[in-house]
Amino acid sequence: MSKPSYVLVTGGAGYIGAHTAVELALAGFEPVLIDNLSRSNERLLKGIADVLGRNLIFHRGDCRDEKFLEDVFAKYPIAGVLHFAAFKAVGESVQQPELYYNNNLNSTLTLVRAMARVGVKPFVFSSSCTVYGEPDHIPVDESAPLKRAESPYGATKQMSERILEDEANTGRLRVISLRYFNPIGAHPSAKLGELPIGEPSNLVPYVTQAVAGKRKSLTVFGNDYPTPDGSCIRDFIHVVDLAKAHVVALQLLLSHSVAEAFQAINLGTGQGVSVLELINTFVRVTGVAVPFTIGPRRPGDVVKTYADVKRARERLKWQCEYSLDDALRHAWAWEQQLSHSIP
Ligand code: NAD
Ligand code: WQD
Repeated sequence: MSKPSYVLVTGGAGYIGAHTAVELALAGFEPVLIDNLSRSNERLLKGIADVLGRNLIFHRGDCRDEKFLEDVFAKYPIAGVLHFAAFKAVGESVQQPELYYNNNLNSTLTLVRAMARVGVKPFVFSSSCTVYGEPDHIPVDESAPLKRAESPYGATKQMSERILEDEANTGRLRVISLRYFNPIGAHPSAKLGELPIGEPSNLVPYVTQAVAGKRKSLTVFGNDYPTPDGSCIRDFIHVVDLAKAHVVALQLLLSHSVAEAFQAINLGTGQGVSVLELINTFVRVTGVAVPFTIGPRRPGDVVKTYADVKRARERLKWQCEYSLDDALRHAWAWEQQLSHSIP
């Protein structure tokens, strides 16, 4: 690429946005990060700079702020948008649905309006396997029916996809909606990783924090499910593999070679791993014990899901490079590094 293309990364100070910003920069793009830091802080922006050896463009602001977005689009010739900014805690969304509908839907709507004003079409959206609920068949592919969402958070992902599909059908957007399964791990340099605010609700940050002594003990939510070891089964994908898929999706949209105005693509490894298997793998690769007890099932948990990744392989020509061992080793290296730098 001779002249770098500016690409807008909303939620660029968050976990997946920051990892993707690094991969975009390495691929020759000039990422313009925006984030209101409501669920993050500048720590990951520093991490990005440490990995790349330079600061990326960053503007603090809210995706629901029309004027803010207008200014960003006026300042940079943005070629495409990757939209990560959202609230993502399932339990919190059940407690505070309005907060989730307001933030997640209005961010998407305001962004879509701002893009239409300047005529920018390529749009990569952060969707989730949560749109499928408990699938009837696994591995689950993109044609599986979207059942009634279990949570307001899940509903915001279903509704956002619908909004984007309808907009794409007018010709104003070209959209790839990436349905992530369970992103885990950290940058191999240990300079970037997940930084949960407060008590983590996701499994891997809970494991690393329990091992680091920040939490007393991990609770495994149920070992009486109809699975081989009784614990739930998920598809855990390394965050750097996930980040790289975004770069390819964006390149595809920029190349004008996609036929579909809107398409959804699963991002996972295609492998199901149980919660207890993940804990055992963590112990094996790091050599440290995980303090855990078995607790009751967590309401709303899907028993078993993993991705059919055929479409990602075919359309994105992408596949995972990192293993579960790598992801857990990297997550632990990041946690250790954090424990050294943050008291
Ligand atoms: P994250 O919380 O680390 O990052 C999201 C970022 O968006 C945060 O930095 C937050 O401050 C910012 N943000 C939120 N609302 C904003 C707004 N209105 N304006 C500007 N910035 C705002 O989360 P993540 O794990 O990096 O997730 C990124 C995206 O991927 C989200 O859309 C999430 O729903 C989706 N997703 C995440 C997972 C996961 O397990 N991490 C799985 C599937 C989908
Ligand atoms: C994984 C497994 C838990 C914590 C969530 C969202 C989904 C998507 C990814 C955004 C489950 C078990 C967990 C703990 C445990 N996010 N667990 N003890 O629930 O698969 O998916 O994140 O879109 O929408 O729902 O991820 O990491 O919370 O849980 O036993 O302390 O680990 O029961 O089986 P989940 P998770």
